[in-house]
Amino acid sequence: MSDTTEISEASVEAAVVAALAAIDAAADSAALKVVRGEHTAEGSPLARLNASLRSLPNDQKAAAGKLVGQARGRVTQAFASKENEIEAAENAARLAAEALDVTALPSRWSAGARHPLSLLQERIADVFVGMGWELAEGPELESEWYNFDALNFDEDHPARAMQDTFFVEPTNAHMVLRTHTSPVQLRALLGNDLPVYRVAPGRVFRTDEFDATHLPVFHQTEGIAVDKGLTMAHLRGTLDHFVKTLFGDDAKVRLRPNYFPFTEPSAELDLWHPTFKGGARWIEWGGCGMVNPNVLRSAGIDPDVYSGFAFGMGVERALMFRNDVKDMRDMAEGDVRFSQQFGMVV
Ligand code: PHE
Repeated sequence: MSDTTEISEASVEAAVVAALAAIDAAADSAALKVVRGEHTAEGSPLARLNASLRSLPNDQKAAAGKLVGQARGRVTQAFASKENEIEAAENAARLAAEALDVTALPSRWSAGARHPLSLLQERIADVFVGMGWELAEGPELESEWYNFDALNFDEDHPARAMQDTFFVEPTNAHMVLRTHTSPVQLRALLGNDLPVYRVAPGRVFRTDEFDATHLPVFHQTEGIAVDKGLTMAHLRGTLDHFVKTLFGDDAKVRLRPNYFPFTEPSAELDLWHPTFKGGARWIEWGGCGMVNPNVLRSAGIDPDVYSGFAFGMGVERALMFRNDVKDMRDMAEGDVRFSQQFGMVV
């Protein structure tokens, strides 16, 4: 390359001024790198001035060398300080971008929970499914015939009266919100070949108070077995196995005579457990009995050939004494924290 750039104060100063202006204008380290190439690398005005030193007469070399050397020094200096400035600015920007507010509240992912009544209902059904029973279900809005008539309730049975039953308009349609899961007994018998072994978890409705021990909407689990030769002993054995599976080997069942129109004989189903809160004691839990022949007849079954047993118990009550829930309203109010206490298994 023929570097014949004339070395003069003006030409050196022009190269320096151009370089300083470019350095000043560089906004970031990438731009500064470009400026460094243009103003210091080979072919740049300063590099060419420097190269021209060689072709000067010897007597001019010292003065010109000093001039160019000082010029290069100023530019190098400017690069260094601009570099520091950019680095500091870039660091500050990165720190600002990465800043964490350690006082900020964490956003927590809160796992939901299944309702313990659903879990317990499934547990109960599982015990029967484990014995080979099948699940059954029926509608919550039920005909009066299934809820009462077919279950052998007299026309004037007090359970039909307004204070117990939610009748649904128009009243001449004879529909009610089912007051128990027993209408599923009929549905299980009508829809299926014999023998029938069915368990039916479900929601039921009564015009009860909403208080610590009553809910107007609650849950029952119904069971019905109809086969040849079934006796009260089968009922008793089934319930024994059921409560021991659900509550442990120490649990015991007691049947006390009672009356239900759809079973004969009928019994109150009591449960005993040594470690329930409040000590070892008997707790009323549900009803049971041998399916009344009239009910078998409503399902078109000959009671001289077949017999059956049935039972029904409250799921809320079971959750109360099994898991020590003191107030039934907690089960109805829908606060997820109530459900979370139980985890995913009851
Ligand atoms: N349906 C009865 C009730 O709600 C309980 C029951 C079920 C009684 C099955 C006998 C047989 O009280």
